[in-house]
Amino acid sequence: MKITEKIWFNGAFVPWADAKVHVLTHTLHYGSGAFEGIRVYKTDKGPAIFQLEKHMARLVYSSESVGMKLPFTKEELMRAAIATVKINRLESCYLRPLTFYGYGELRVSPEGCPVEVIMAAWPWGAYLAGEAARISVVKTIRIHPQTTVADAKLTGPYVNSMLAAREALGRGFTEGLQLDYEGNIAEGPGENFFIVNGATVSTPKLGSILPGITRSSVITLARDLGYTVEERPVTLKEAWAADECFFTGTAAEVTPIASIDEHKMKSPVGKVTTHIREEFLKIVQGKNPKYKEWLTFVG
Ligand SMILES: Cc1ncc(COP(=O)(O)O)c(C=O)c1O
Repeated sequence: MKITEKIWFNGAFVPWADAKVHVLTHTLHYGSGAFEGIRVYKTDKGPAIFQLEKHMARLVYSSESVGMKLPFTKEELMRAAIATVKINRLESCYLRPLTFYGYGELRVSPEGCPVEVIMAAWPWGAYLAGEAARISVVKTIRIHPQTTVADAKLTGPYVNSMLAAREALGRGFTEGLQLDYEGNIAEGPGENFFIVNGATVSTPKLGSILPGITRSSVITLARDLGYTVEERPVTLKEAWAADECFFTGTAAEVTPIASIDEHKMKSPVGKVTTHIREEFLKIVQGKNPKYKEWLTFVG
């Protein structure tokens, strides 16, 4: 990780090295926090934050889902994000807000612990090496939607993603793929999953997956480009036989999938995937005015 100068910590900037918490911080023990991952792109008009409002709305939703009374509004968090990019003089970066229960009492229920918020930013390149991914179905299934709050981005449940990623990487693959409790495809440890057949793009329906902000942006984009998009259960057999598969996510952007275990896709980087990926990259670089409301310019 490339360190930057300052981290926003409960409303004020502190030097990177001083952004510390006590070892008895509640969230460190019980995974009771909420977070976001946001990309900031270099454009001709300076840095632009992708889907800032949607990310902060999800952060507020996730935080409230574990009972936090946030000391900042969504709008204040959006302003803090802009200020964090600005103060660190970053042209492009990854932005990481985190809300957590801090140091106070230490028992499972977090009463007596303060709600704290941080925001950090640092330079970040392509994830998954920017190439077509070779993925593998892992043995840890995606957590059951009723185990926590399925559509919230909470820190604790990420141990499920962490195990999936570790298993796939440990076996030499670029990324893992998790099934849901019914045996259908859920998602990657940090990515939503899509298949393509002809001009139809299909993606697992909401329920057992994180409702990705890139996923919903790509669904809108694909429909605008004339593709039919379905949100429905997707099986592994269908994915093996599909024309193309791809991942979406803040980190992965639109990443083609070359193979799933020993099953090679018909083409490792498909035509439709390439089309959607190229149009997506134009949008995030501020080159398609039709989607300008997806970007917040740092100025
Ligand atoms: C489990 C999981 N699924 C999907 C995604 C993609 O979501 P988004 O496009 O909002 O980054 C992420 C990344 O945040 C994730 O961690």
